[in-house]
Amino acid sequence: MKISPSVLTADMLELKNAIQTLEKSGADMLHLDVMDGNFVPNISFGIPVVDSIKKHSHIPCDVHLMIDKPHRYIEQFAKSADYLGFHLEAGSPVKETLLKIRELGCKSTLTIKPKTQPEEIFKYLDYCDMVLVMSVEPGFGGQKFMENSLLKLKVLKEEITRRNLNVLLEIDGGINNTTAPLAAKAGADVLVVGSYLFNSNDMTKTVKELKSL
Ligand code: DX5
Ligand code: ZN
Repeated sequence: MKISPSVLTADMLELKNAIQTLEKSGADMLHLDVMDGNFVPNISFGIPVVDSIKKHSHIPCDVHLMIDKPHRYIEQFAKSADYLGFHLEAGSPVKETLLKIRELGCKSTLTIKPKTQPEEIFKYLDYCDMVLVMSVEPGFGGQKFMENSLLKLKVLKEEITRRNLNVLLEIDGGINNTTAPLAAKAGADVLVVGSYLFNSNDMTKTVKELKSL
């Protein structure tokens, strides 16, 4: 299992140390949640912070844009992102934006909110390197895992396998030691882990446990 720690709940001034610890623990990428206060009712951080994190990390940056009309900012984020993802529901031309992300040298991620059905993105799977299924309403860390996301993972996994596509399946929201095995069983390849990891006493041990799923 691949692990993508979300730094949203980290102490931003301690981030450099946290990133080093996560890298040593075997975390596969760093999940960076960008929020604009419009698409979601919260504001996190933007381009300069993503750029700084990229400068100080040796593992891929997995950027999760929760902003309106994200196509307006793809070029700026593509400079530091490795995986660059946006929401189906955010008002951008979907196919064009996915292709633009690839053209700029990043892996493309298409993300769906809890109320969006997985079938709605079948027609875009050819242009995706990763699909992100939200298992909480986007905007905040520390929320409860929504069980309906498991069925979505299964449906997407089946379609990806049936079409023999090279698309990773990522899940984000409420992942802990109880929900992680369920997500793994349903077909997730990448687990985003925020509060459970940053509130744990031993991040190294927690990453290793989740990775072994
Ligand atoms: C929520 C973010 C998540 C969040 C996950 O909108 O996309 O990445 O940080 O946090 P936890 O793991 O605490 O649900
Ligand atoms: Zn996220």
